[in-house]
Amino acid sequence: MPQPVRKAVLPVAGMATRFLPASKAVPKVMLPVVDKPLIQYAVDEARAAGIEEFVFVTGRGEATIKDHFERDDELDAHLAARHDDTAQALAAGAVLAPGAAAFARQEKPLGLGHAVLCTRPLVGDEPFAVLLPDELLQGDPPCLAELVEVHGRTGGNVVALAEVPQAETGRYGIAEVAAEEGRTVTLSGMVEKPAPAQAPSRLALIGRYVLQPTVFARLAAQAPGAGGEIQLTDAMAAMTRDAPFHGVRFTGQRFDCGSPAGYLQATVACALERPELRQDLLSFLRGIAPSP
Ligand code: G1P
Repeated sequence: MPQPVRKAVLPVAGMATRFLPASKAVPKVMLPVVDKPLIQYAVDEARAAGIEEFVFVTGRGEATIKDHFERDDELDAHLAARHDDTAQALAAGAVLAPGAAAFARQEKPLGLGHAVLCTRPLVGDEPFAVLLPDELLQGDPPCLAELVEVHGRTGGNVVALAEVPQAETGRYGIAEVAAEEGRTVTLSGMVEKPAPAQAPSRLALIGRYVLQPTVFARLAAQAPGAGGEIQLTDAMAAMTRDAPFHGVRFTGQRFDCGSPAGYLQATVACALERPELRQDLLSFLRGIAPSP
């Protein structure tokens, strides 16, 4: 029986230059998609997969993220005095249990693999999840819950995959496929950001991982890869040789909130799912859409 996955790592240290000036004083993952910060979508997805402890890898703006996931007595007292149950529930929904959130500081932007390595003392010797909050994934069941379920059956490492256009392989980690059964893929390797002609498939890693703690030793010994950064993909590629390594094709909706266009699409899609916003937003969008 594989060990349960109880901890999640959320790298949030990026500079987010594509979101300036908004990202100057506010970490990009704190920007709202409708009325919930991007980071809380990932935390909620992790909670739905049974994750109990969260390790945030932060750079600038750590305090804002801490505040968001902590109880705020002043706000609670204010809402209680007004008997505003709805707002109270929304504020309480963001709060993580005492001790459930830990923060690892990434001093220098040396890559995703380096960010994960910074969490080694906090994660310890057990399998753990990684969620990249830029990828907003809407799935039923939620994406990480699917990975945790597969991990429960197969052990080893499990990643989420989605097909991308050939021309876009240079933006992603791309899987090398050994076998496929239903939506479960067995990986024999992977490459970080290959040019389309060199890509081993069109199946991209989309920012959800369940990893064995052996990844830390690999990352610690690893030379910089694509872009001069310590790449998580390179460590995982090596791990395909010594433990089961599976991918799960994600079938839900995916939004790349690392780009302003993807962030706007996520905002519109999430707003359309809200009954109280849907009709007005639809009429507005129909009104401004050019007629065919
Ligand atoms: C990171 C990973 C890459 C993955 C991507 C998903 O890249 O390195 O393997 O496919 O996230 O969004 P980044 O977008 O940080 O360059």
